[in-house]
Amino acid sequence: MGLLDGKVGIVTGAASGIGAATAQVLAREGAKLVLTDLDDAAGSALADAIGAAYVHHDVTDEDLWPSVIAAAETRFGRLDIMVANAGIGIMGNVIDMSLRDWRRQMAINVDGVFLSVKYCIPAMRRSGNGGSIVMLSSVAGLRGSAGLAGYSATKGAVRLFAKSMALECAQAGDGIRVNSVHPGIIATPIWGKLPVGQNRPIDPHAAAEASVPLGKAGEAEEVANGILFLASDLSSHMTGSELVIDGGLTAGRIVRLGA
Ligand SMILES: NC(=O)c1ccc[n+]([C@@H]2O[C@H](COP(=O)([O-])OP(=O)(O)OC[C@H]3O[C@@H](n4cnc5c(N)ncnc54)[C@H](O)[C@@H]3O)[C@@H](O)[C@H]2O)c1
Repeated sequence: MGLLDGKVGIVTGAASGIGAATAQVLAREGAKLVLTDLDDAAGSALADAIGAAYVHHDVTDEDLWPSVIAAAETRFGRLDIMVANAGIGIMGNVIDMSLRDWRRQMAINVDGVFLSVKYCIPAMRRSGNGGSIVMLSSVAGLRGSAGLAGYSATKGAVRLFAKSMALECAQAGDGIRVNSVHPGIIATPIWGKLPVGQNRPIDPHAAAEASVPLGKAGEAEEVANGILFLASDLSSHMTGSELVIDGGLTAGRIVRLGA
């Protein structure tokens, strides 16, 4: 018996990192999944490996959202889980950031989550057995970060969007729960994609050793396990909550004195 037997879900940004690990963990627990991404080679290879469907989709493309939802309903008959995971990070001081980059980051990290939610809720209501929406925020949505102000703005928006949607669904009495996940420093390819101008790319392992109380970066599967909990009925009394998976990063600082 899997924790998600009989459930159908969509994972956006599923070709890499946390999304890929989430797809693997949810499928292992019995969920039937539709994976979406821009990276068709990695996305469809993963889908083939775990018995999922793959759809090429940019989360900001509203016109194609109905076909993503339809892929879940026509192939698997229902929709119970939405993991709004696709996201990017653009690093740099605000005075050096173009409005175009600010808007691109907002479009993927915030508009994409808005569209995920707008289009999944009617399908979950049609399925008639509640549902679970999990949005990927970040520790950057809980506190500020110099050099990541734009990213923090997107993740702070996601945090309160999740709480508001939790209330909107509770008010509707539809049984749909909505929660946000707040990873800290997780070793995924996103770190290699952050444009850092003249600076060296950030090594998540070195950054985590210097700042995370547990002394190491998290693995994508450690976040996926939290998403599994929120997606499953194990978290049946949780909605509007924040699940922080950060090795203690937001708890405070510890000082390691040399031997
Ligand atoms: N890795 C971390 O340390 C960390 C920490 C906190 C939060 N997060 C959040 O977790 C989520 C996943 O991050 P990750 O580390 O796995 O990143 P990643 O770069 O490894 O994977 C992100 C995936 O999203 C896809 N994607 C990007 N833009 C897209 C779009 N417009 N439409 C559809 N797919 C798109 C990419 O192709 C990629 O496959 C993001 O929302 C990120 O902000 C990550």
